[in-house]
Amino acid sequence: MAKTMWGGRFNRDTDKLMEKFNASIAFDKRLFRQDIKGSMAHAKMLAECKIISKKDLALIIKGLSAILKDIEKGKFIFKTELEDIHMNIESELIRRAGDAGKKLHTARSRNDQIAADVHLYLKEECVSLSKPLISLAQTLLDLSNKNKDIIIPAMTHLQHAQPVYFSHHLLAYFSMFERDLQRLKHSFEAADISPLGAGALAGTTFPIDRKMTADLLGFKNIYSNSLDAVSDRDYIVDFLSFCSILIMHLSRFCEELILWQSSEFSFIEIDDAYSTGSSMMPQKKNPDAAELIRGKSGRIFGHLIAILTVMKGLPLAYNKDMQEDKEGLFDAIDNIKMCLSVFDGMIKTLKINESGIKKSFENDFSNATDMADYLVKKGLPFRFAHKICGQAVLLAIKKRTNLIGLDLDDLRKLSPLFEKDIFEKISIKTCVNGRDSYGATSAKQVLFQINKAMENLKNIKNFWIKYYPKSK
Ligand code: ARG
Repeated sequence: MAKTMWGGRFNRDTDKLMEKFNASIAFDKRLFRQDIKGSMAHAKMLAECKIISKKDLALIIKGLSAILKDIEKGKFIFKTELEDIHMNIESELIRRAGDAGKKLHTARSRNDQIAADVHLYLKEECVSLSKPLISLAQTLLDLSNKNKDIIIPAMTHLQHAQPVYFSHHLLAYFSMFERDLQRLKHSFEAADISPLGAGALAGTTFPIDRKMTADLLGFKNIYSNSLDAVSDRDYIVDFLSFCSILIMHLSRFCEELILWQSSEFSFIEIDDAYSTGSSMMPQKKNPDAAELIRGKSGRIFGHLIAILTVMKGLPLAYNKDMQEDKEGLFDAIDNIKMCLSVFDGMIKTLKINESGIKKSFENDFSNATDMADYLVKKGLPFRFAHKICGQAVLLAIKKRTNLIGLDLDDLRKLSPLFEKDIFEKISIKTCVNGRDSYGATSAKQVLFQINKAMENLKNIKNFWIKYYPKSK
């Protein structure tokens, strides 16, 4: 008989390389807390339902508590030959608690056990991720509030398009992160469902109480189909989608920071603390933090595609392929956390170079739409006005100036509707504040957005706060 826990029907031991290949302990040991918590809840339920005795329960709880302490102190030796976190802990429990330990796995399979562990773990990580994401959203709001007077040229095709308040630009990112927070909430809710009691796949012949384990573990719901309970990895896909969309947003923002910091733009300066130098070129100050975050998007998207690919061909229920769900998930969590904190720090210490921004308006035609609108307001159909202003732009380029630098006489040759108020009407400030439609960039609209954003963030905080561990 083979020496593994499941060795009854085996004549020979596992090949050494196969043992290593098969084992997940190297990475799933990170789930030890959830695994022990889940086992304790399962044991309590078994005792409550009279499937094991109170005495056995006491021995199991005592043994598991001691194992938890040992792992936390780094005194526990994880063994590859015991394959995964479940069997490492169970076999140690049996060593310590004897026959009582051997009863723990009654009415349970590693299939519902691992699913429960990951559900618990992911819920905790969603709660913990909400903090840096909320903090980042707050940082953007603060920055928007502090720089309400700065106007930048907003771009399409990376060309000056129309002027907007810098705050308006920041608030666009705020909206993106607000949606990310909604997706995080959805991920949390998708994980807030207990698979425990599904057994291997078909449930159990024992009179268990699934609601009780769910309550003990703080799960809001329980899976209503045992096959689904052990086959489902949608909650991981949901979470990695959240991570992917979030890092896509961070990456776009980083791309803008990198551009804005280049000497061609000179809109901002990223703090020394988030930059690095070159080993050869003494003049360099590189935006490495922003570039790394942009680069990390590749691996996060990879994890999403990996889990989708692993799952797409799997028949119900558990297949060993599903062990591949963990490393990508853990890596995504670690990297997203790091990216959020570094990004937040980088934004908090960002210097805005107002003179560089002002300079960018020297050779700028971002007020051309406003010139056309001026003519439209005097009765000209927009298409005519568009053409006339296009000609004005061409003329200004020829004269090496911008629209404000043209003479009124030149403009009147293009259209007699131009009068001397045109220059005030196309000043950058007038252009920005003239855009006063709902969601537009006028100072009034931006202020409205800031207030609304503060309100929304307060509601988001209220959702998460009840899950934050109370500080002692
Ligand atoms: N280590 C496994 C995993 O992570 C645990 C579940 C094993 N179940 C099984 N039937 N072999 O997926």
